[in-house]
Amino acid sequence: MVKIIVAIASNNGIGKNNDLLWHLPADMKFFTQTTTDHIVIMGRKNWDSIPHKFSPLPNRINAVVTKNMEYTNDKADVFTSVEEAIAFYQTEEYADKEIFIIGGGQIYKYSLENDLVDEMLVTMVDAEYEADTFFPDIDEEKWDGELIMEYEADEKNPHDFDIYRFVKKN
Ligand SMILES: NC(=O)c1ccc[n+]([C@@H]2O[C@H](COP(=O)([O-])OP(=O)(O)OC[C@H]3O[C@@H](n4cnc5c(N)ncnc54)[C@H](OP(=O)(O)O)[C@@H]3O)[C@@H](O)[C@H]2O)c1
Repeated sequence: MVKIIVAIASNNGIGKNNDLLWHLPADMKFFTQTTTDHIVIMGRKNWDSIPHKFSPLPNRINAVVTKNMEYTNDKADVFTSVEEAIAFYQTEEYADKEIFIIGGGQIYKYSLENDLVDEMLVTMVDAEYEADTFFPDIDEEKWDGELIMEYEADEKNPHDFDIYRFVKKN
């Protein structure tokens, strides 16, 4: 089972200048709780965007994908394709772990276009943001969505958001 986890603005924006668009600790908590003890696969730019004090993401197996054969990283596993990363962890050794694709834009798009994903956990943030990185439109003919959490803005979280689970239709 391969899952995407993502937070998107109402205009599908997910990032700008290799950074996130917002600070939503309640959604970050959901991300951390969901992915802890599991495997997170990310694009090399997403890895670079994570502040050093938070990388590797703690209590998770961190995997970085790059097309650069020379790339090295002593804090994460490195693969030269998303398929190679998924295949590596879909083995007996990692049978108790879930595989999460955690972005960014290129890796989400590639994984969806190549049908590598079974489920998506999508935080829909109730705000439009200027962005340079976007999540693909979710095709309702291919995915069944179910609302799993509603959150109202508060002093620490500037926007309302809803979290949906999308499961691929057979
Ligand atoms: N809102 C969210 O939930 C969320 C989540 C994650 C990230 N983000 C945001 O997304 C942005 C980063 O996304 P991005 O699209 O610029 O970059 P990205 O997807 O994180 O990384 C792109 C890099 O991944 C490697 N790559 C891409 N396709 C590949 C493939 N098919 N096989 C192997 N390697 C491949 C390449 O690395 P090399 O150049 O090294 O070859 C490429 O430059 C940031 O703004 C970040 O904050 C948002």
